[in-house]
Amino acid sequence: MIRKQVVKLLLESGQEQFLKSYDKLSYTEKEIVGRQILNLDFDLIASMKNSLRHPSTEGEEVFPASPSARAGSLEFKETGIRALQEMKCGAILVAGGQGSRLRSSLPKGFFKTTLIKQKSLFQLFAEKCIAASALAKTQLPIAIMTSFDNHAETCIFFAENHYFGLLPSQLSFFMQPSLPVLDLEGNLFLESSERIAFAPNGNGAVYTSFLEEGIYRRWKERGIECVTFSQIDNPLSDPFDPEFIGFHLSHGLDVGIKSIAKKKSDEKLGLIVSQKDGTIRIIEYSEISDRLKAEQNERGELLFSLANISTFSFSLSFMAEAAKTALPLHPSKKAVKVWNGVDAATIPETPNAFKFEQFVFDAFALTKKIETILYEREEVFSPLKNFEGEASIESVRESLLRSDQRAFERVTGRPLSDKERSEGFELSLDFHYPTEELCSKWKGKSLPPQKYISP
Ligand code: UTP
Repeated sequence: MIRKQVVKLLLESGQEQFLKSYDKLSYTEKEIVGRQILNLDFDLIASMKNSLRHPSTEGEEVFPASPSARAGSLEFKETGIRALQEMKCGAILVAGGQGSRLRSSLPKGFFKTTLIKQKSLFQLFAEKCIAASALAKTQLPIAIMTSFDNHAETCIFFAENHYFGLLPSQLSFFMQPSLPVLDLEGNLFLESSERIAFAPNGNGAVYTSFLEEGIYRRWKERGIECVTFSQIDNPLSDPFDPEFIGFHLSHGLDVGIKSIAKKKSDEKLGLIVSQKDGTIRIIEYSEISDRLKAEQNERGELLFSLANISTFSFSLSFMAEAAKTALPLHPSKKAVKVWNGVDAATIPETPNAFKFEQFVFDAFALTKKIETILYEREEVFSPLKNFEGEASIESVRESLLRSDQRAFERVTGRPLSDKERSEGFELSLDFHYPTEELCSKWKGKSLPPQKYISP
C-alpha cells in the first residue's frame, strides 16, 4: 500500500486538497493513481502553480513587422519544386491536441471534413503528401506528432485505412509528453477514477520529441534540409508548398513564417512583431496587450496586423538547436474533464482549469535567420476549432470548396461560370499539385458532372 508515501508527498508539496478525492477511491484505484502521484515532478508543478500568480505580460518594446516577401513568386516556386524533387523536404503535422472546443471524443484528425467524400483531416494531409510526391516523382516523408491521449487511436486509424496510400518509409509517428492540469486554484485533480488530469504539453514539444524519437536522425541521413510545420486543424495548410519551401531555401533561413493580414483587432490570432534589433518574434493572442491589439496608424489601419497561422518552415539544424533549449510553460485556461466521484467525466461548457503549454515559436529567439512571407488568407488558413459558429466545420467546408474552385481554374486556365461556381464539388488532391500531364489533360475543360473529380 503506497498511501503513506502519497500522503507525505502531497502534504509536502501543498497539494493536500487532492487527498479528498484520493481517499474516495477504491483500493486498486488508489494504487493506480498513487503511482502516478509518485512519478510526478513536484518542483515543476510548484513552478507551474507559481506562474498562475505571476502571469507573463507583454512588457517588452516591440514594433510592427513587415514581411520579406509576398506570395506569388515563380522563382521561389521553382526552387521549391527542385528541392522536393531532390527530397530535401519533410513535413511535420502536429496532432497532439485534445480538440476540446470541437466537443468530439475522437482525435481531431478523424474529423470528417471534405464536402463530398467526407475525408478525414488525416486522410486529407496523407493525400497531400502523396500528390506532392507524385509531382516531385519521389516519396516525401511526413511525421505526425500525437500525444498520450490519441497516439494509439491515431496509429490504429491509419493502419485500418491502409495508411491512406502512404508507404511505410514515408510515414512516422512521434508522441509528445503530457503534463498535469491544475484547477483554477492551482490544485491537481482527477479526470477519472484512475487518472490524474493530464494534457499534452503544447506544440513546442515538437523539437525534443522529434529528436528523441529518432526521426531527426533518420531525416538527416536522408538529406532532408527543410522541415515544414503544419497543424492538423488547418486543412488549407500545405505541407509541401513549393513557394514557401523555395522562400525558406533561397533566403537561407532557420525559420520561415507563413503569415496573413489580421482582419480586426480582437481576432484570436497571435501577432508577428519586430524587436529592437530587427529580429522577428511571435506573441500569442492571449498574451497581447490591448494596446498592441488595437493600435492604428494615421490611415486608421491596424498597426500590428501581421498574424501568425502556425505554419512554419525550419532548417533541420535549427530543430536540433531548439531541442536542446528548455522552453517556458504558458498557462492557458481551458475546459477539461473533471471526475465528480461518481459518473464518467464530461467536458464542461466553460473553462475550469489551466493547461500548461510550450509554444513552438518561443524557440524562434534562438535565431536571427527568421523571416516571414505574406499570403492571402483564403489560400492558407481556415482552422477547425469550434463545434459551431466561427472556425467550425461549416466555415471549413466553405473554404475547401473555394480552394478547389481556385485550383480547378488554375489547372483549366479558364474561370468558372456562375453556374459552375454555385455547384458543390470536391477535387482530388492531385489538382493542388498539378503535373504537366494533368494540366494538359484538363486545359480549357469545364466542370464535369460528377461531384468528386479525380484526374
Ligand atoms: P489548439 O490548442 O488550437 O487546439 O492546437 P486543440 O488542442 O486541438 O483543441 P482545444 O484547444 O482543446 O479545443 C492547435 C494545433 O496544435 C496541436 C493541435 O493538435 C492542433 O493541431 N497541438 C496542440 C499539439 O500537437 N500538441 C499540443 O500540446 C497542443
